[in-house]
Amino acid sequence: MKDAADIVKIIGEYVRLDKAGAQNYRGLCPFHKEKTPSFSVHATQRFYHCFGCHESGDVFTFVQKLENVSFPEAVRVVAGKAGVPLPKRSFSGPEEAKEARQRAQFLEMHERAAGWFQQQLQTAEGARAREYLTSRDLPAKALETFAIGYAPDSFTGLRDLLKPQYDESLLRLSGLFGSKSQEDGGSGDLYDRFRKRITFPIRNEQGRVIAFTARALDSGDKAGPKYLNSPETPLYTKGSVLFNLDLAKATLRQYNFALLVEGQMDCIRAYISGVPNVLATSGTAFTETQVRLLSRFTQRVVVNFDPDTAGANAAEKSIALLVEEGFEVKVLTLEDGLDPDRFIRERGAKAYVECLKGAPRHTDYLIERARKLFPARTAESKVKAVNFLLPHMRRIQNRIARDEFVTDAAQKLGVDSMLLRQELKEAASAKNRGAAVTQAAGMNESERLLLRGLLLEAGDPVREAARRAVLSAPQLFADLGCGPLLQQLAGPEAAPDLHAIECSDKERAMLARLMLDAGLAPTEELVEDSARTLELRALERRQRELRSEIAAAEKASDPESYRALCEEKLELDRRIGELKEN
Ligand code: CTP
Ligand code: MN
Repeated sequence: MKDAADIVKIIGEYVRLDKAGAQNYRGLCPFHKEKTPSFSVHATQRFYHCFGCHESGDVFTFVQKLENVSFPEAVRVVAGKAGVPLPKRSFSGPEEAKEARQRAQFLEMHERAAGWFQQQLQTAEGARAREYLTSRDLPAKALETFAIGYAPDSFTGLRDLLKPQYDESLLRLSGLFGSKSQEDGGSGDLYDRFRKRITFPIRNEQGRVIAFTARALDSGDKAGPKYLNSPETPLYTKGSVLFNLDLAKATLRQYNFALLVEGQMDCIRAYISGVPNVLATSGTAFTETQVRLLSRFTQRVVVNFDPDTAGANAAEKSIALLVEEGFEVKVLTLEDGLDPDRFIRERGAKAYVECLKGAPRHTDYLIERARKLFPARTAESKVKAVNFLLPHMRRIQNRIARDEFVTDAAQKLGVDSMLLRQELKEAASAKNRGAAVTQAAGMNESERLLLRGLLLEAGDPVREAARRAVLSAPQLFADLGCGPLLQQLAGPEAAPDLHAIECSDKERAMLARLMLDAGLAPTEELVEDSARTLELRALERRQRELRSEIAAAEKASDPESYRALCEEKLELDRRIGELKEN
């Protein structure tokens, strides 16, 4: 299966890869932000590794992580892409098989619930909901595209529909129902979570319904929150989904930017008004997971949140995250307190697109925001404005862009730009001091070269030299940190299969790193030298031990041990002399 799946081809669909060696390909890592490629794919060993963020794995873990799907689903995706039939056993164990079965059932439940809600919109009870949607100017086409429905005023409608098909325990976990426990005076029975609400399915990247958000038809305390969402379930994690990604993804790449809005209604409105590359965060600030998800499609964003305090705060947080991940961010604030939905309805799509085109860069937006928050022209107020901007300045990696930001801010706030630069520098060094954590490499050059030699293809003379060296004196390498690995790799004549080596994930990642290491390439001579160096080091350590052991035996008047130890030392001295001569 793994043989059939060409890892370079499959990962190449997600990441632009360039050839970087006989078997290596390189590209920008999809798991973290970066400007220079440190993400490598090894063609014949079929793994990927990022030198920046240390993500590594095979083609299945890649798809699993990037598409945010379960392992069995990743297997299916890879099988589909590689055009190979599904393996008979695609699950690594019964647990995984069970998980996949349950996930399929959850998806099916959501699909059926969405369909049922849509039907309910057409019933007599649904009339009010239909009127509401009409009053909000949503055409039939939009209702269809977004599978908008209506959850009736009933505690049992959906429950009774799904009950015959699914285990109660699964229904309970689906997020579609609530229950009042017996301790709280309830019966423990399930009841429909969404009632008397307009329902919007939340779909994942593949377009499968994984949750709902539902808007109350009535307002007021009795109606509950305006929007009620599915809780976190096995299918749904709020911070890792972007509403409308399934429909927007094609145009995100095409237009090379995303419009980011807060609400479902805003998103739907923009989508049906000719801005298909729109996504909704669903009322919260962006999460890092969402930023990563988005960065697979584009690195340019226009943020258009509601022009209220909550919206501005969410915008600021989102800007920070996006800029940190290397995005180019613009910020649109609509006039007269309008959100995108109302703006488009009242002023038209054309006017909205014009606003989009004129959206200021996030730096200009932030300077304006600082001026609004701290309008006084006093020194104190200026200090506050500067402090508000400094963290945003520090986040910009490009020096030219950062400098431009500083110059603009200084001018608009009326502060000395030299002074502002000085502030920025001090803030930066204070941060660096805290973050100065050096990583212990743990391995020296000789160990590295030997391991790299052993990782070469079968029959390679360099690999044979490394094998000879390790096999000739296994005890010498035993107490090295990488000793067990050396022995495992040197054992078989066949080339090592990275996936089959018994070691920790950390060690596997380390080996992956070594194979892709662009440093000094091992030659027969280097490998032999390395083995000698390591042997010498081990022998010299033993030599030091022997000295003190001999002294102890002498002191204890133990002639037998004394003689044996002296003999060992003699032999050792001879071998050390020999090694040093070479
Ligand atoms: N939201 C939520 N829970 C709430 C209120 C809002 O999850 N109690 C989320 C919803 O995803 C909503 C978004 O925040 O779409 C934006 O909220 P809001 O601006 O109030 O929504 P609008 O789209 O303006 O609501 P509407 O137009 O339906 O009144
Ligand atoms: Mn709104």
